[in-house]
Amino acid sequence: MSPALKVLLTGSGGQLGQALLASKPQGITLIACGRAELDLADADACADAVRRHRPDWVLNAGAYTAVDRAEQEPELAMAVNAGAPGAFATALAESSGRLLQVSTDFVFNGQQGHPYRPEQDVDPIGVYGRSKAEGEQRARAALPADRCCVLRTSWVYGPVGKNFCLTMLRLHALKAAAGEPLAVVADQVGCPTATHTLAAACWAAIGRQLSGVLHWSDAGAASWYDFAYAIGELGAARGLLAQPAQVLPITSADYPTPARRPSYSLLDCAGSRKDLGLAPVHWRQALARVLESVAAVS
Ligand SMILES: NC(=O)c1ccc[n+]([C@@H]2O[C@H](COP(=O)([O-])OP(=O)(O)OC[C@H]3O[C@@H](n4cnc5c(N)ncnc54)[C@H](OP(=O)(O)O)[C@@H]3O)[C@@H](O)[C@H]2O)c1
Repeated sequence: MSPALKVLLTGSGGQLGQALLASKPQGITLIACGRAELDLADADACADAVRRHRPDWVLNAGAYTAVDRAEQEPELAMAVNAGAPGAFATALAESSGRLLQVSTDFVFNGQQGHPYRPEQDVDPIGVYGRSKAEGEQRARAALPADRCCVLRTSWVYGPVGKNFCLTMLRLHALKAAAGEPLAVVADQVGCPTATHTLAAACWAAIGRQLSGVLHWSDAGAASWYDFAYAIGELGAARGLLAQPAQVLPITSADYPTPARRPSYSLLDCAGSRKDLGLAPVHWRQALARVLESVAAVS
């Protein structure tokens, strides 16, 4: 890592932001911006932040992540997820700075049936995915190719924040106590990604000055049903649950949501893992570590 690299981090209060703060490598001067310091819906404020701080990198981990609510708030989702990266990239183009734009598997339509490679065309099926795809596009259009890195990831969760893992721990306890099953969608397949491995990938991308499109998720594949089952099993083994609830597989049709989600959004991470110099971690192994962190603070 080059000495005294200055990184402007957005979304520092989010689940990835907190993991990035906790794992900051030596030699990085971090300007951490949460919502109070920088409104990502305000493009002028984003550009001003770059001009004021003149960072070597903007690590844009902040985003409008409410996938269902985005269907009702497309302008706000677009302002945050496309306007902010566009403004960062435009301002960075005037300095010698670089952008690491964190993006999502939801830029793909989920119809392919085998893992998506970084260079494939995007085709989002909802407002959130469209706004993130537009953010990638604006970032890449405004900056020279060697100064823009888009890192797509999937199904992010960690020991803090709002996420599927913490929700399932709560529901396992409630349903098991009530003697009721926990119904979880089994026909959407992707890969859970823990914030600690994702944060390591972000810092590696910066440390190695990578550019282009990268894919990073934990290794393996799962449906939401598989993930919920493992959370119950491993959560009980670590004393976070007296006992797991019975998990019942259901279809997406049984659980309608305002936003459609890709049914198969695995990311092909093989090339990116090599570029990042990081070994694959199976999602169950990463989950075990997250649950240990949850147990440590419970
Ligand atoms: N979560 C996932 O499953 C997932 C999957 C694939 C990719 N990603 C991507 O991974 C990155 C990190 O996501 P995450 O899971 O850490 O999300 P998160 O926990 O929801 O964090 C997002 C952060 O952005 C902030 N934010 C939202 N709107 C803002 C605004 N207008 N101004 C300033 N800050 C604002 C939020 O602040 P508040 O807390 O105040 O709202 C929050 O701190 C994002 O780029 C996301 O698109 C996430």
